[in-house]
Amino acid sequence: MTVLDIPELALVALVGVSGSGKSTFARRHFAPTQVLSSDTFRGMVADDENDQSASGDAFDALHHVAGLRLRRGRLTVVDATNLQPHARAALVRVAREHDVLPVAIVLDVPEALAWERTQGRADRTHGRQVLARMQRDLRQSYGRLAREGFRKVHVLRGVDEIDAAEIRYEKLF
Ligand code: GTP
Ligand code: MG
Repeated sequence: MTVLDIPELALVALVGVSGSGKSTFARRHFAPTQVLSSDTFRGMVADDENDQSASGDAFDALHHVAGLRLRRGRLTVVDATNLQPHARAALVRVAREHDVLPVAIVLDVPEALAWERTQGRADRTHGRQVLARMQRDLRQSYGRLAREGFRKVHVLRGVDEIDAAEIRYEKLF
């Protein structure tokens, strides 16, 4: 078992390529209402979870809701790839604005597995090159997360580690 210590009140950013299992992990470990998914917010603003042109508005809405939740003292999980520094910076900013600790959980699976999973999904149409770029972004993310302000960076490497992970909440006081 891999225990992931997380403050009772945190902004948790899942980080991983498409097909790494972020949404599955979120469903397993958190209540549905704790999870803000970029897909859901794209659907909300554009009636289409895959409409990438809606991403700007979708993330505006997601960040806004995250801020409201944190203001109310509710743990919040962001289910998005979070592979780009600017995407993560927005999350760190929202967390800091509410004096909440930002935490990252990185899901790192072999690229071939992510690709295999992607091919089995009707709701994902990106090509191999897009996945390869995400994988490169993930590699570059490693050295940066702590510097970007994430107070804890939990890295789960491979399916077994991801399967064996359990969340343990740390009391704040
Ligand atoms: P995006 O939303 O595209 O970024 O992907 P994601 O990281 O949310 O991946 P998701 O959780 O949707 O998982 C992708 C596929 O892999 C799904 O079909 C899952 O059923 C499968 N999958 C995810 N995690 C596991 C796992 O631990 N074991 C197995 N067997 N399948 C998994
Ligand atoms: Mg997902």
